[in-house]
Amino acid sequence: MLIDQIDIERIPDHIAIIMDGNGRWAKRQGKPRVFGHKSGVKSVREVTEGCAELGIKYLTLYAFSTENWNRPKLEVTALMALLVETIKTEVSVLNKNNIRLETIGNSDALPAKSRRALAKAIEDTQDNDGLCLILALNYSAKWDIMQAVKTIADKVERKELTAKKLTESDFESALSTKNIPDPELLIRTSGESRISNFLLWEIAYSELFFTPVLWPDFRKENLFEAILDFQSRERRFGKTSEQI
Ligand code: FPP
Repeated sequence: MLIDQIDIERIPDHIAIIMDGNGRWAKRQGKPRVFGHKSGVKSVREVTEGCAELGIKYLTLYAFSTENWNRPKLEVTALMALLVETIKTEVSVLNKNNIRLETIGNSDALPAKSRRALAKAIEDTQDNDGLCLILALNYSAKWDIMQAVKTIADKVERKELTAKKLTESDFESALSTKNIPDPELLIRTSGESRISNFLLWEIAYSELFFTPVLWPDFRKENLFEAILDFQSRERRFGKTSEQI
């Protein structure tokens, strides 16, 4: 079993995943794209469970990007409905497994129904102190960086901060990922080797793992394989091998 090979002392605190390939997976079976998204929910369950089992602290899933609004209206509506439905049915499972739900992104612009379901699930799970499951919803890294820049510019305008005194940590506290450690490992499924506007600031030193597996086929074993690959790498943060 792959899980037995994982060094528990060196598991990443935070894993981020770009869940890609739902549409292609469905198309291969002659089914509509939405069937792929529905099947992808099982993979969400699997990785969440896998992370909880390993004691990983944060798991961020790219569920809906700012750019996804450009998809056919029917697909957008179906994705939103799937999200609400999944959140509602999974809250009890999250609570049973001590998992806290959070979101990053511009959730104010989500449909009212999705906002309400999310707010309720976040509130119902807020006291759990196991895995923190973060859904990136209506998220894009450029959006987040821009809204942080605007928050900081406002502060400067109000004379609460000067450009000279501005630190990296001031900037980080204006991002929607504040209080979340940077991901050590970023996984993207479906064979694409792109970041697609996800966590640009936060992945400065992340290890990247690209797999050809399409998201609906992604299982715990695939997660464990990515973690093992991560553990085989030497993370130098700009230093030489000898300095580590
Ligand atoms: C990318 O595949 C996937 C998405 C844009 C949506 C991900 C959503 C889910 C897995 C379902 C719900 C999630 C939660 C957290 C409840 P794609 O459509 O871009 O696939 P393609 O590249 O093959 O077209």
